Amino acid sequence: MPTRPTANDVEDLRLEIEQHNYRYYVLDDPTVSDSEYDRLLRRLTEIEEKCPEFVTPDSPTQKIGAAPQSGFSTVRRTHPMLSLDNAMDHDEVTEWRERLIRVVGSDGETDYVCEPKMDGVAVELVYEKGVLVQGSTRGDGTNGEDITANVKTLRPIPLRLRGSNVPDSLSVRGEVYIALSDFEELNRRQAEEGERLYVNPRNTTAGSLKQLDPKVTASRPLLFYAYGVGSAAGTGIESQWDLLEALRAWGLPTNPHSQHCETIDDVMACHADIAAKRDELPYEIDGVVIKVNRFDVQAEAGARSRSPRWALAWKFPPQEERTRVLGIEVQVGRTGALTPVARLEPVLVGGVTVSNATLHNQDEVDKKDVRVGDWVWVRRAGDVIPEVVGPIKELRKGKPRKFKLPRKCPVCGTAVVRAEGESVVRCPNFSCAAQVKERIIHFASRGALDIEGMGIKLVEQFVDKKLVASAADIFSLTLDDLLPLERMARKSAENLLASIDRSKSVSLARFIYALGIRNAGETISEILAEHYASTETLFEAEEDALAVIDGVGPVIAKEIRSWAGDKVNRAMVKRLLEAGIHFPDTAATEKSDEFAGMTFVFTGTLTHFTRERAAAEVKKRGGKASSSISKKTSYVVAGENAGSKLEKAEQLGVTVINETDFLAMVNTGPADR
Ligand code: IVH
Repeated sequence: MPTRPTANDVEDLRLEIEQHNYRYYVLDDPTVSDSEYDRLLRRLTEIEEKCPEFVTPDSPTQKIGAAPQSGFSTVRRTHPMLSLDNAMDHDEVTEWRERLIRVVGSDGETDYVCEPKMDGVAVELVYEKGVLVQGSTRGDGTNGEDITANVKTLRPIPLRLRGSNVPDSLSVRGEVYIALSDFEELNRRQAEEGERLYVNPRNTTAGSLKQLDPKVTASRPLLFYAYGVGSAAGTGIESQWDLLEALRAWGLPTNPHSQHCETIDDVMACHADIAAKRDELPYEIDGVVIKVNRFDVQAEAGARSRSPRWALAWKFPPQEERTRVLGIEVQVGRTGALTPVARLEPVLVGGVTVSNATLHNQDEVDKKDVRVGDWVWVRRAGDVIPEVVGPIKELRKGKPRKFKLPRKCPVCGTAVVRAEGESVVRCPNFSCAAQVKERIIHFASRGALDIEGMGIKLVEQFVDKKLVASAADIFSLTLDDLLPLERMARKSAENLLASIDRSKSVSLARFIYALGIRNAGETISEILAEHYASTETLFEAEEDALAVIDGVGPVIAKEIRSWAGDKVNRAMVKRLLEAGIHFPDTAATEKSDEFAGMTFVFTGTLTHFTRERAAAEVKKRGGKASSSISKKTSYVVAGENAGSKLEKAEQLGVTVINETDFLAMVNTGPADR
């Protein structure tokens, strides 16, 4: 680009950025890495700063930066946002359909669209001449709150629509939500920082959208799926299915699990299909929304005061169950945090047996007032760790004692401390066996050094037998150390030593993560590894320099500085490097686009790779690794004992390859793992 860009250059850059956003959020098929995307956005920001005359209100840079507000004004709609009637079972769906047929007549027999019912927060987005001019909450349906500045910060929401046939005026409706993994990450950070935990993804979404300062909203991992419009008049679109396609073409993400169903029997099958996928989905859904497909039939069916007759929410049975608290135990984590954990009478929640559930911290126990012997509701949402919702107080017998965390660490007996303003109580003893074990388990875990065969039981023995007191000791273990351990045959001891040896070749990001610095999760570690070429430069970095790195910020910067300032930590890093830990040169691990647009699914047991490593190889080459098979899957890599996924791949006609084929594709030997 010339030193003085023209308006056209800037527009081209904007289009490029929008195109990447579209590929990422709508097509779920990105062609550039996050850092490449960030680079483009930075370039645009710099140009616009230098040449403010080129700034347009719909530029991707305008997503953030609006000033805090003092309140939200009211938005009044002509087409109210309705709610949905619920059905709990098959019979209620049949009754709904019979009523529908009575209203529209049997010649109104129609096809349907089934969509996952997102458990998020409904919003309306108004686009005038393709430009986002207003965002609002549902409110009472007719009157909502104006949250324009906040919705603009959501990355999946385009500031302008794509394509040539964008209507003059369009009000898009959809759901803002938070993915389960992002929610867990948020809560992990809250816990680490001793802050109050968020209750669930939906509440957090609602709270995030109603921030007076849009920068706070921008910092939350909010996502969006569009599912409707206020009115389709004038668009020429005649059905819900075509509407979903049009929304996508205009650049709005829609849920890829929605299905077009020709008959009510197909609707029933679709509900079962989505229900079966529920636990695999990366976000919470609480049912399936059934919609009459054709708009003319919808119009005939009409609406009651608050809900249309042409749509129905078929809810899933709740994933909350009752059980009893047998006891409350206290666990000591990697950072010394004492966590109360409820031991439960085992109960099946959403298909998984739950026998313990976290109570997070003392404040949470106090707030919920859970006591030993109580009957409680237990909830499990997707992958989220099971948690106690609260006691059923009517069933409480007698006066069980309130639970209080001990004043001494249950493992090493050191007096615990609670820093001012924190809700976390910690054992301050760095050498506490519980902390040492947890640090080592973390060090060897999948996202870290990924030492195969080094499980919890083994680490416990290492620490209890004083073979290992720090991660660096792992690398001095010998066959003689291992053979006397419980359940340790020569073959497994040799295998373990081999995997310890292999783990020495690791990416800098994984190594940073393995160190277990408070708040430095996988993402932060990746950012740090991108900025610093070695552990030395990272640990010499000034707090200010760390704090200005995008994504790091002052809290984590301080944490890293204090970690690096600790002699014991530095000595451990030194020993680890002396033991042979090294980072294969970055050129060799550089990304390529060899697998761009391809999706791989791994199934069965792989012998040369762990799943994570195999997925990393795919990502490195610009491809995607997924856990579920669809027609779009490019390859299923089948290891030993591959089960139902293999059958599904065959049904869908997806190419199945074995591990050797995959090895050949990535052209890397097992030593590279
Ligand atoms: S359609 C008239 N579709 O469910 C149609 N709603 O109780 C009204 N929701 O407020 C909404 N996923 O927040 C529709 N695919 C979907 C949905 C969905 C979630 C929520 C939405 C709405 C509530 C209705």
